[in-house]
Amino acid sequence: MLQTVRYLIGTAGPSGYGSKSAAEEVTESCPDLRSVTAIITGATSGIGAEVARVLAKRGARLVLPARNLKAAEEARARIVAEFPDSEILVMALDLSSLSSVRKFASEFESLNLPLNLLINNAGKFTHNHAISEDGIEMTFATNYLGHFLLTKLLVNKMAETASATGIQGRIVNVTSGIHGWVSGDIIQNLGVITRNKRQYDATRAYALSKLCNVLHTKELAYRLKDMGANVTANCVHPGVVRTRLTREREGFITDLVFLLASKLLKTIPQAAATTCYAAVHPRLLNVSGKYFVDCNEATPSKQAMNLTEAARIWVFSDTVVSSKDPKAALENYLSSIN
Ligand SMILES: NC(=O)c1ccc[n+]([C@@H]2O[C@H](COP(=O)([O-])OP(=O)(O)OC[C@H]3O[C@@H](n4cnc5c(N)ncnc54)[C@H](OP(=O)(O)O)[C@@H]3O)[C@@H](O)[C@H]2O)c1
Repeated sequence: MLQTVRYLIGTAGPSGYGSKSAAEEVTESCPDLRSVTAIITGATSGIGAEVARVLAKRGARLVLPARNLKAAEEARARIVAEFPDSEILVMALDLSSLSSVRKFASEFESLNLPLNLLINNAGKFTHNHAISEDGIEMTFATNYLGHFLLTKLLVNKMAETASATGIQGRIVNVTSGIHGWVSGDIIQNLGVITRNKRQYDATRAYALSKLCNVLHTKELAYRLKDMGANVTANCVHPGVVRTRLTREREGFITDLVFLLASKLLKTIPQAAATTCYAAVHPRLLNVSGKYFVDCNEATPSKQAMNLTEAARIWVFSDTVVSSKDPKAALENYLSSIN
């Protein structure tokens, strides 16, 4: 109850920020970002677009990978119109396709750019059951597995950049508070929604992918430390905000729900604040493996804090993305645990 009141009035937490802080405000005290190169997924709309705008305002060079290149060029043009000195590259990436992720990573590598920041923000929530070209349920493939592979392919570049420049690299995974809604075994849940259209539940699929974003962060932070990389990994719940995430449900009912919940919603600049805070705020130097809400450290669900589970999901994901037949790898894993 007290927490809800604090949220509604936007009381600042220990970081000095709260639910009503906006991305521009939390980056005001940040160092000049002109020596920083950032990849931000999902910057064509919503939260990602605002994160990109604010980091460009602070001087960062941006790489915006997108499946919809026209939308990405429009996003780029909007930022350049506001900040003409911005350096922004648009590149092709469909996160639901492991081959597209590999192609993007190799094209990025060939540019010989440094990489300081990786913001894994893109996401989807879909009412219709779909399977990715690799044979995996589409929400999981897009929100989690694509980002898992993207991070794996870029992490050495980030470690090299950090070591060459002395600037600590940061990886930010955008999750959701809904990650706590998952019950039961993660891989078996994935098996059910991948195999069986009739048992597909959009909220369950979305929550599952977001739980894996948190577990990925935990294990990634551990592995980055173990490899001696001067790179941190944290995850954030941006808060609830009306964006194109609910694009499949546009209409009167959705308008009404958002109207009734309006007091609980954030604006897009407020929703972009926690991501920007985790990405660039000096206070988070050396902070890794944490979960942030309203720009303050928070406690994720019990399942999301299970380090054994984080390690298990990492091994599973690595097996799937490294396999020539990811669907068969999932099936093999499922038969091995049944
Ligand atoms: N909105 C909320 O209340 C809320 C709450 C908690 C967490 N989040 C999380 O916040 C993040 C941003 O969401 P948002 O609310 O800003 O939604 P949004 O406006 O729909 O933005 C989602 C972004 O992800 C991109 N994307 C989707 N599928 C992709 C794919 N296969 N490959 C590459 N890019 C893809 C979209 O690009 P296209 O233009 O190609 O569709 C878009 O740029 C997501 O991770 C979401 O789960 C949102």
